[in-house]
This record gives sequence, structure tokens and C-alpha cells, in this order.
Amino acid sequence: MNEIKNKYYLDNIIEATGNIPLVKLNRMPKKYGVKASIFVKPEFLNPSGSVKDRMASYILKKAIQKGELKPGGTIVEGTSGNTGAAVAMFAAAFGFKAIFTIPDKMSDEKINALKAFGAEVHVCPTAVPAESPDSYYETAKRLHRETPGSYYIGQYFNLDNIEAHYNLTGPEIWKETGGDFDVFIGGIGTGGAVSGAGRYF
Ligand SMILES: Cc1ncc(COP(=O)(O)O)c(C=O)c1O
Repeated sequence: MNEIKNKYYLDNIIEATGNIPLVKLNRMPKKYGVKASIFVKPEFLNPSGSVKDRMASYILKKAIQKGELKPGGTIVEGTSGNTGAAVAMFAAAFGFKAIFTIPDKMSDEKINALKAFGAEVHVCPTAVPAESPDSYYETAKRLHRETPGSYYIGQYFNLDNIEAHYNLTGPEIWKETGGDFDVFIGGIGTGGAVSGAGRYF
């Protein structure tokens, strides 16, 4: 956070990622007769609208530091939606080009949201095995090979996805709760959030 004459600002929109408040659910546990206190983190408050901002910004900042993603370079990723939004916002904020592959089952709204950030989107058939050269996984890898100097995120295999949640999400929840909780529940796509935060706990 920076300061100009008592006004505070973030250097860029990506800095608004994380530090999402922990919010108590009051009515729902009562409704279902649950005695435990339940808290949620409304991750949709992240700048592109999902938890995926955490790992996208962590991975891409690290790639920049390591020199794997150069100024003005291209980011390539296969995505079914939220990762794409997070990466597309990062690319727009820092002047990178973004190329996505996306399965054809995804809505026009999701595809258009990526394009609105200036990204190039390749729509691939859903009904093919992951190993098929036409799948959105393999097409992303091919586009990466064909685009000199591009950086391929590969969220399903990139260990920095887990590291992002080990270093950011886990400590954030621990600080908010003082570690005083019994169960952590998370959604699973790549497994990055649950594995990273879970390992930290
Ligand atoms: C909104 C939302 N929550 C949770 C997840 C799961 O995150 P992860 O890929 O870390 O398992 C995803 C991604 O699949 C998502 O889009």
C-alpha cells in the first residue's frame, strides 16, 4: 500500500488479490441444526472474481522474477474459465499478451470475458481425450511451442500453484483464526488450494 498526501492506493489491480475477510455464517448452521461455527472466505472478492487470482498472480510474478516471462511476452494457458480471467487480468495490467485454449462447452460469456481483456482465445472440442492433439490441454502446449519466448502456466502440473496457497492462503487463514479451527473445506479443480493451504496447516 502506498501513500500520497494521506490518500492510500495500490500500485495495480493485482495487488488487490487476497486478504479476503473471513465471514461468519449465522443463519445456515441454525437452519441445518449444525452446532459448529462456520466461516467462509468470499473469494469472489478477488479482483477477477475468484480464488484463481491467488495462484495466477503468484505464478506469474515468480516467472517474471526468474526471467521466464519477459516484458511484453506471451502467457499461454488452457482454462475452463476462472484461471483464464485471472491470467487475462494480470496480462492486461502488465502489458503481456495472453493466449488461452478453452473447451467448447464453456459459455460465450466466459469466452467473451477473456477477449474483453484483450486475450486471444482458441475454442477446442470437449469430446476428445486429454491426450488428443485437439484437446484444450494439448493445443495449449502446441501454441506454447509455436510461440517463441512464451510462458506456459500448466496449472494442473505447476507446483507453484500449490506453493501459492502454501505461502498465501494458508497463512492468511491461520492468522484470521489463530489456528483455532477443526476442519478446512475447499473446492477442488487442480487441487492447488486444498493441497497448499492443507500442507501449511
Ligand atoms: C471458483 C473456484 N473455486 C475453487 C476452485 C478450485 O481451485 P483449485 O484449482 O486450487 O483446486 C476453482 C478452480 O477450479 C474455481 O474456479
